[in-house]
Amino acid sequence: MSGLLAVILAAGQGKRMKSRLPKVLHPVAGRPLLHHSIAAAVEAGASRVVVVVSEETKSSVDAHVASEFPSTPVVTVVQPSPRGTGDAARVALDASGEDADRVLVLCGDTPLIRASDCAPLVAALGDSASMAVLSCELDDPRGYGRILRDGSGRVTGIVEDRDLSSERRGSLREVNAGVYAARADVLRAGLAGLRNDNAQGEYYLTDVVAHAHSNGGAVAVKGSADALVGVNDRSQLAHAEEALFRRIAERHRLAGVTVRGDARIDDTVTIGEDSTIEAGVRLRGKTKIGASVLVDVGSVLTDATVGEGTKIHPYSVLEECAVGPRALIGPFARVRPGSEIGEEAHVGNFVEAKKTKMGKGAKANHLAYLGDGDIGPGANIGAGTIFCNYDGFTKSVTTIAEGAFIGSDSQLVAPVRIGVGAYVATGTTVTQDVPDDALAISRTKQENKLGYASRIKRRLAAKKK
Ligand code: UD1
Ligand code: CA
Repeated sequence: MSGLLAVILAAGQGKRMKSRLPKVLHPVAGRPLLHHSIAAAVEAGASRVVVVVSEETKSSVDAHVASEFPSTPVVTVVQPSPRGTGDAARVALDASGEDADRVLVLCGDTPLIRASDCAPLVAALGDSASMAVLSCELDDPRGYGRILRDGSGRVTGIVEDRDLSSERRGSLREVNAGVYAARADVLRAGLAGLRNDNAQGEYYLTDVVAHAHSNGGAVAVKGSADALVGVNDRSQLAHAEEALFRRIAERHRLAGVTVRGDARIDDTVTIGEDSTIEAGVRLRGKTKIGASVLVDVGSVLTDATVGEGTKIHPYSVLEECAVGPRALIGPFARVRPGSEIGEEAHVGNFVEAKKTKMGKGAKANHLAYLGDGDIGPGANIGAGTIFCNYDGFTKSVTTIAEGAFIGSDSQLVAPVRIGVGAYVATGTTVTQDVPDDALAISRTKQENKLGYASRIKRRLAAKKK
């Protein structure tokens, strides 16, 4: 058999999200809601995907799919008005060529759907079935379409909840998950014959099942209830996302990563073997973590690259930066965009680095602001050091050459360069370049006035009376 076309139904309005962002583009574990259905279809073998969207959402959905699925053609078509799932499927088939002989249909708002839910449906197509439906037995089937079977168990059709009599509503417990595979010719013919004389006045895709029953046969394949988890409002979005986070954590665990407690890891993140991700960690976006890394409690990493053996201590925040290998970060460190913290470098507690490079083994262990810095290997930045990188108009670079030592509580007024092996004395305000191997010191000489302490205290005590 040749071509499998996937159709993703996503033209529903999503009003219950109460959002300006189209429902199907709301992020779920780091990817737009819609992405999960497309990815499942592609993984199940679809060679082409048509997403049915509404006029209002087309341009934003186009922008997403173009970049995310480079190897499978994904196109969008507009359903002019929401006249039902059958109408939406018809719009998709009308817009696609005749090259596919089988069609997989999914909804765009079921982020827990997997390829393993879809593949058995495609596999079920053959001599005794021209259409296969994913079904699920529920104790409380209310709201879902129900699978109808004849005396010998053959699937004869689907009836929507609202079109059921009240007696049958409770007794039919096998529900339609809304995922289908069908022979393209049977689906086309079934869609062409749809009528909208039902409780909702819509064209139901589910009515094609009865057509398939008498044209090649219909089957229902029982699957997991996950495929049913749909997102209509932000409460359901939160539940679906938590389920996905649990699934992603489990995937990493089985791949050799210790993931503790409620660590939440986006679907887009990669983690090397023997790394540990502690409770309360949030890993987002394009974050890439190497092997044997520790990301300790409460740290948040967004689009960060972390080299092998690096330790990120609790409550550190990293964004669009690269750290490691074997670097030590935090606790309570902030590494901002554009920073490159090199091999075995330290960024300790209450240190903020912005667009700053640190060479091998360079250290800023406590309380510092490193903005627009270029720090050579082995340099040491003392506590309380500030790179004064901004004069209110322009940002300038502070260069600290290899092995330089910056004493505590110094201010380096950029642009400025501290030479190789140079020494900046504690409390110095550096405004001019410091040559290699020089000592820079700028502070008033200390004077000790003997016996002054008790004299001052007596004077102040007398004043208070
Ligand atoms: C549908 C099924 C129902 C099944 C349930 C599973 C029908 C008639 N019923 O019901 O048997 O149990 O899914 O979740 O299909 N859509 C469009 N255009 C439209 C209408 C809907 O693109 O005109 C899209 C929606 O965006 C959504 C999907 O189709 O992604 C399903 O539509 P929805 O209205 O949620 O169908 P249900 O009533 O839940
Ligand atoms: Ca639905």
